[in-house]
Amino acid sequence: MFRIGPLKLQSNLFLSPLAGYTNLPFRLTLRELGGLDLATTDLVNARSLLEKNSKALQLIASCPEDRPLAVQLFGSVPEEMRDAALYLESAGVSAVDINMGCPVRKVCKVGGGSAMMTEHANTAKLVKGMVEALKIPVTVKMRLGWNDENWTAPDLARALEDAGVAAIAVHGRTREQGFSGTVKLAGIRAVVQAVRSVPVIGNGDVTTPQAVRHMMEETGCAGVSIGRGAFYNPWIFTQSLHYLRTGELLPEPSFSERIRVMTRHLDRMVQVFGEVHGCRMFRKVAPWYAKRFGPASVFNRRIVRLETRAEYDGILGDYIAWRRQFLDESGNLQPNYRSPPMVPSFMQEPDAARRESIPVPKGPVEIW
Ligand SMILES: Cc1cc2nc3c(=O)[nH]c(=O)nc-3n(C[C@H](O)[C@H](O)[C@H](O)COP(=O)(O)O)c2cc1C
Repeated sequence: MFRIGPLKLQSNLFLSPLAGYTNLPFRLTLRELGGLDLATTDLVNARSLLEKNSKALQLIASCPEDRPLAVQLFGSVPEEMRDAALYLESAGVSAVDINMGCPVRKVCKVGGGSAMMTEHANTAKLVKGMVEALKIPVTVKMRLGWNDENWTAPDLARALEDAGVAAIAVHGRTREQGFSGTVKLAGIRAVVQAVRSVPVIGNGDVTTPQAVRHMMEETGCAGVSIGRGAFYNPWIFTQSLHYLRTGELLPEPSFSERIRVMTRHLDRMVQVFGEVHGCRMFRKVAPWYAKRFGPASVFNRRIVRLETRAEYDGILGDYIAWRRQFLDESGNLQPNYRSPPMVPSFMQEPDAARRESIPVPKGPVEIW
């Protein structure tokens, strides 16, 4: 049991917001696999939400199975942030998360995202106004600070604890780092040590159950939030929770289970976004599942042009037949492919190299 204010959660693992990815179909897919309780939406502009902008409303689209749900807001005008949060509370969301980590210029130049980490007094005031107005918990997600010379996260975390936040998630990079370099666990540990009792949730580069445990042991954080790792491996929550509880690693899902889950994911995308848009959005989802299929270039080449649900069945059927030449259901090479010269070269790609291809916003932070 894990508590965030009045929320009693079954897991201390969280879905980190990934704009463009952490939509309703993805959240439902993850929830069904287990190990995840509180999930968060992509970041939503508070003003757009108050204006009932259709894109903002689409971002908060949810359903009763998608609970408990936190909506992540960004903005710097205290009244707008408070009113948007009140609207979310009345719409039945479980918690409101405030984005203080986004490095993108469009967000920072209006005083939101990482810019909030440079103005502690104003930020604490804004947060206090929200906490006082709401019954549901207010949480924040921050980075270590603006740059390596200014790890402001520990001081800010203390101020926000005083302002009444119910949890603090920390991505162990600075704004200047963007998504490059490594996560600094010492920075997350400094935040854990700076606060009195509010739970700190560590975040950054966690892609395996062992990395979840390492993050917790090295930093003392109470929970771990996983973003790209959930795309890379949607089973990471259930696998990690099991590992934390028992020390055992669960077996990897079979190929047919991966196909089942991927197909459910597509069906939900079609249901939520309609066939044309759902299939188009799925073009960037399917190759993630395919990273664990073994040889998959034949599948990827066609799926990135997917137009209709019926076409998916054709692509998948052809791929499964093609793959059967090399691999059995468990992913083992078929007997006629056992001799070394016959091992297809694409099967020798190391896992680490695949993981590095997880996409992040590109280019220097100044122009994001
Ligand atoms: C494509 C992309 C979109 C992101 N969108 C958000 C966002 O909307 N809100 C936010 O707080 N963080 C966002 N992040 C940051 C992630 O939540 C997370 O802090 C970061 O990716 C490190 O964690 P990870 O290695 O588990 O992904 C985004 C990251 C990526 C790569």
